[in-house]
Amino acid sequence: MKRYEALAADIAASIRSGLLKPGERLPSVRRASASRHVSPATVFEAYYLLEAQGLIHSRPRSGYYVAAQPRALPLQPEAASTPDSEARPVEVSEMVFDILRSAMSRDVVPLGSAFPSPLLFPLERLGRVLANSATHMDPWSTVDELTPGSLDLRRQIALRYLLDGVRVSPDDIVVTNGAMEALNLCLSAVCKPGDTVAVESPCFYVCLQALEQLGLRAIEVATDPREGIDLDALEAAVVRHKPKACWVMTNFQNPLGSAMPADKKRALVALAARHQLPLIEDDVYNELYFGARRPVPSKSFDDDGWVLHCNSFSKTLAPGYRVGWVTAGRFGHQIARQKLTASLATSIPVQLALARYLERGSYERHLRGLRATLEAQRDAYTTAIAEHFPTGTRVSRPCGGYFLWVELPPGCDSLALWRHAMAADISLAPGPMFSASGAFRNFVRINAGHPCDARTIAALRTVGRLAR
Ligand SMILES: Cc1ncc(COP(=O)(O)O)c(C=O)c1O
Repeated sequence: MKRYEALAADIAASIRSGLLKPGERLPSVRRASASRHVSPATVFEAYYLLEAQGLIHSRPRSGYYVAAQPRALPLQPEAASTPDSEARPVEVSEMVFDILRSAMSRDVVPLGSAFPSPLLFPLERLGRVLANSATHMDPWSTVDELTPGSLDLRRQIALRYLLDGVRVSPDDIVVTNGAMEALNLCLSAVCKPGDTVAVESPCFYVCLQALEQLGLRAIEVATDPREGIDLDALEAAVVRHKPKACWVMTNFQNPLGSAMPADKKRALVALAARHQLPLIEDDVYNELYFGARRPVPSKSFDDDGWVLHCNSFSKTLAPGYRVGWVTAGRFGHQIARQKLTASLATSIPVQLALARYLERGSYERHLRGLRATLEAQRDAYTTAIAEHFPTGTRVSRPCGGYFLWVELPPGCDSLALWRHAMAADISLAPGPMFSASGAFRNFVRINAGHPCDARTIAALRTVGRLAR
């Protein structure tokens, strides 16, 4: 048992024995760290784990409390994936395009969508800031704010890194058209066609599509549903296949929802440095945490510059504005050049609007509301799935983001389920979308980023019936 697991088990025993009562506040992280003689990071990991088990919950800016009624939650997927350790060309695009195309209609219940409800974002307010910034922008900014992007926005982004204790200069940041462009630039900067890239198993299908488009091979690495990529398996793959990069999500992985403990992130970065392996960190969900503290990126341990950290505002503030960024360590120069040739720049009025919005300080308040909504939706979706899906279904319990990874009973075919669900105007993201080898046949990813209203519950009931 790891230290945080032992601590969590100890607290769980106190809750179950009634020593800690429903509604009671747990000691602050600092106090627990001092009294238990463990690091604050260990206490955080233990509290996250207890939260994932439904035994405690966090209240913003107040701390952690014993859950009023510790609920019987569905079991979570437990086993780490077991990919075959072969490097293979990627061919997922046709399937992924078919599945995505079929879901692009408001008449379809978006359980398979990758986007949260657009109504969760302060779009009216942003629109006003955008109109104002565009009207009053310095005409010369259209010339001198090309790549690497608006200095005001890069300053605001650098300030957010500082919240995690990561010192990034605005000069180290390249603004991009969403995280997707950032991730593609990273791949192009460190790989050439025919090279191999280590990816998680399962991983975000757009990662697989990007590899396919660039003619890269994927080596899928075993990944734990709670703690992310298996470092021993990754090291073995690095030694055997000499990949030119590793694409990884350390926080609220899509689709698993896994979050790497801080010590594991540190070890991951050390592994990357040891093997001189560029680590492309896709961190688009890091702001959507449900606990008391934002999880740090692995970038925060990157003394040697092997981490290319990619992020965006698409999931947290401004979907559709298409603004992301990359801070690429030792690859910064190549990335800036790649960006220039790929798209010259990112929309300047939009960058200025985001910079003004961030300067006004409303972002934190918006994020607090967004996180609370997403956490409540996670619980509502989980309850509905537990009620309507077949016995034996397992559901992940992520501590951030808005995806649930659902393991259906063995023999249940998620591609067939998707076809039947689509006939009833319900989209799903079947497991094989997330694998270069077609694995995860009895898994689906469910998007809990939309309100769990009557239409959603009816859709979950239908999917449960179809699965049965
Ligand atoms: C894991 C992951 N990475 C990257 C992206 C793309 O982000 P953006 O919309 O900023 O390009 C998404 C969007 O769905 C995502 O889920």
